[in-house]
This record gives sequence, structure tokens and C-alpha cells, in this order.
Amino acid sequence: MSEALKVGIAGLGTVGASVVQLLAKHGEQIARKSGRAVTVTAVSARDQSKDRGFDVANFDWYTDPVELAEKADIDIFVELIGGDTGAAEDSVRAALSRGIHVVTANKALLAKHGVDLAGLAEANNACLNYEAAVAGGIPIVKTLRESMAGNDISRVYGILNGTCNYILTRMEADGIGFEECLADAQRLGYAEADPTFDIEGNDTAHKLAILTSLAFGTKISSDDIYMEGITSITTADIQAADELGFRLKLLGVAQRTETGIEQRVHPTMVPKTSAIARIDGVLNAVAVDGDYVGEVVLVGPGAGGDATASSVVADIADIARGDETPVLGMPAVDLKDYQRARMRLHEGGYYIRLSVYDRPGAFAEIAHCMGEAGISLESIVQKRHADGEAPTRYDEAVPQPVILITYETTEVAIKEALEVIMSKGVVSEQPQMIRIEKLN
Ligand code: NAP
Ligand code: HSE
Repeated sequence: MSEALKVGIAGLGTVGASVVQLLAKHGEQIARKSGRAVTVTAVSARDQSKDRGFDVANFDWYTDPVELAEKADIDIFVELIGGDTGAAEDSVRAALSRGIHVVTANKALLAKHGVDLAGLAEANNACLNYEAAVAGGIPIVKTLRESMAGNDISRVYGILNGTCNYILTRMEADGIGFEECLADAQRLGYAEADPTFDIEGNDTAHKLAILTSLAFGTKISSDDIYMEGITSITTADIQAADELGFRLKLLGVAQRTETGIEQRVHPTMVPKTSAIARIDGVLNAVAVDGDYVGEVVLVGPGAGGDATASSVVADIADIARGDETPVLGMPAVDLKDYQRARMRLHEGGYYIRLSVYDRPGAFAEIAHCMGEAGISLESIVQKRHADGEAPTRYDEAVPQPVILITYETTEVAIKEALEVIMSKGVVSEQPQMIRIEKLN
């Protein structure tokens, strides 16, 4: 067996600590499978005295990850710090510039600088592997980069954020409030250092931007993603979804359309019968529609130290084996420019929840506004206030929830219709609008 591969790890938090432990536990089998032993020789974090579940004195310590990347005697630099600037970016650039292979779980960094970093890696004959950056433990990067290379892909979509899926699942199953669910996700090590990145959709958008590039052979374009998070979702929406035959999921969707590629992240009503509807808790799922293979769906844990370490170590093993797949599936110079399809042209069905003043003609007004915008309603529901009691007189001052489901229409038509409804004074607050995704 050739000389051991020397690894330096920068970032010893949730993921970094698990990587060190996994390599210690399964080092022998990794060496047998990849034909080369892998040894961690150097590590970096901010606080040398923190208990990380292993003895940091076994490794060369660097408080500055850039110094580790620039000076340490290593073959692979593993970046597990996070963030798209500062220590993470500087250390990755430093390692690649030296021709040191890089493994990272940092989707924010790749979403912002991926094409540039791919070029830097290729110019220096270094690998840049990032399986853990998208959907944690699911091998979707390898699937798109290698296994589906023979397919023309029309759509890639999925549940790409474990924290949001965990929150939505627990809100539905246990009736727990949003804040408590988020605190649990943070305690379990699922959330980003700044959890607004999870709940506002940025983290899903970062991952989607990478998937889009891999699926369509285009430059990464994370600024062109339509994005809505889950903070406006209420238990009323989750319950209504259930009653209407849907489940609510935060989806990232990239699809080819006649005008370009649509990239969008938003809460979505998915049919209960779809595979994606059954993905609960921290699990992620990624579906890819290929012209030859059909639909491929991969499911697995999307966050958490051990699941993510599994992908990081797979990337290390690929380098140990000598695999040199181009970073984004083809040389960076061959990636096409991304052509954005405008969100206003998006077509689909919509769920609308309105708070309607309970008075004669309110329903008719709403239906009229929708009709004027060319939108056909599949259903319109206002629930009874008191089960089993005879109706009494309505109270005009008290708004009641009314749920509409539309047939397929365009985003621009829905937005215009809702503006007109707001202007008529029949609703008491901003309508809730959630897109319905057509799925198998
Ligand atoms: P984390 O628990 O916050 O750990 C971050 C580590 O980086 C800590 O060890 C911290 O040092 C170190 N660090 C931060 N700033 C530093 C600096 N300026 N110089 C040196 N070290 C620094 O984060 P994580 O959850 O492990 O995530 C790491 C990366 O993996 C991120 O890119 C994240 O998006 C990605 N990721 C995470 C998951 C997950 O489930 N957690 C899943 C997939 C991908 P101290 O410990 O001394 O503070
Ligand atoms: N915060 C991320 C999530 C970690 O919840 O999915 C995995 O990328």
C-alpha cells in the first residue's frame, strides 16, 4: 500500500468532530477500500481547550485555518468551518493554490464562488469535493456528476434542508410551535450557525444552485433563485393541507422551461400520495427527472454530524483512490451561462388562505376577482364556526378563514388577483399563498 494520505481538518464542530471520529473508527476499512491509509495530521478550530470527544493533542494544532492550509504537510484540506467569506474562503483558496485537494461541506461558499473555485482547483490539478454540501448524507453530487451523466435532465427538486423539514414535521405531528421546533433542531446539530439561513430558505437555495449547475451544465447562479422560507407557515396551513390531501414541505426546484431554467425555493403543497410527502423529520429527498432513466429519488438524512461526516469521508476516500471527476461534472470553462426563467411566468396550482370579513357578497367578490384574472377555482371552503349548532347571525367584524385551491394558472395572474382582492376591503390581512407542485 502506498504512503498514508495526510489530512488537515479545519473546523471541529458538529461535522468536523464526527469526521475525526469516523476516520478513527473505520480507518482500516477505508484503507482497504481505497487502497491507501488516511491519517489526520493537523486540525484547526478557534478554541483549543474545548471538549470535542477526542484528544486534540494527537494532532498538530492551528488556530488559524489559513495557516494550516498554507503551511501544513498535508495532501487533503478539509474545510468544515462554514460561511462564504473569511476563514473558510481564504483557507480553501490557499489550499487549492498549493495544489492541495480540498473537501468541503460548505454550500454557501460553493453557491457564491463555486465556478471560480472549480477553475482554481483545475488550474492546480487539485480535486474539490463537496458531497456533504448538498443534502448531508445523500450521495446526490456523485449521482448527478457521474451516475446520471448520460441523461438529459429536465427537473431536479427536493427537500434540501433538514432543519425546515424537522420543524414542519413536528409542527404537524406534535402540534408544537415554530420556535420550540427550531430550538430542538439547533440542539440536535441540524441548524446552520445562523439559523435564519435555514428557515428563510437561503440554505436550500445554496444547495439548489449547486444541483442546478450539475444537472444542467450551467454556471452556478445563486442570485437568480426565487426564495421564500417557512416563517409565514401557520398550523392553520398545515391542518388545511392535511384536509385537502396535501402535505407542506419546503422544496427547492430547478426545472427547464421554454424560457430558461426556473430556480425556486418555497413552501409547497405536495400530494400526500407523492414520495416526497412521506419524507419526515431531518430526512431529505432529492428527485431527478432524466430522459433515459426516468425519475430517480434519493432519500436520507440531510443534516447532523454523523450523516454529514459519512459524505465528507466518502470524498476523502475518492481522492485516496485517485478519482478525478471534474468539480462541476465538466471543466469549469465549459459550463454554459445560466439563463433565468422569470418567476412571474411560473405555472401551477395555488393554495390561498384568506381572512374574509363574514358578510353577504364577500365570497362573490372574491370569486369575481379570480374570474376577472382568468383564474378558475377548483375549490373554495369556509369552515363552520360551531359544529352541530344551528347557524345564527353572522358577525361582519369577525374575519373567517377561507381556503381556495386554484386550477393551473400563472404566478402573475395570482399576484394580480390577490392585489385586487386586498383593495376591495373584503379581507383583513395579507393573503397566504402557497404553490402546489405537480408530482408523481
Ligand atoms: P459548527 O458546529 O458551527 O462548527 C464550526 C467549526 O468551525 C467550529 O469548530 C469552530 O471552532 C470552527 N471555526 C469557526 N470559525 C473559525 C475560524 N475563524 N477559524 C478557525 N475555526 C473556526 O458547524 P457545523 O455544523 O459543523 O458545519 C460546518 C460546515 O458544514 C458548514 O459549512 C455547514 O453548512 C456544513 N454542513 C453542516 C451540516 C450539519 O448538519 N451541521 C450538514 C451539512 C453541511 P470552535 O469549535 O473552536 O468554535
Ligand atoms: N442546516 C442544514 C440543514 C445542514 O438543516 O439541512 C445540512 O446542510
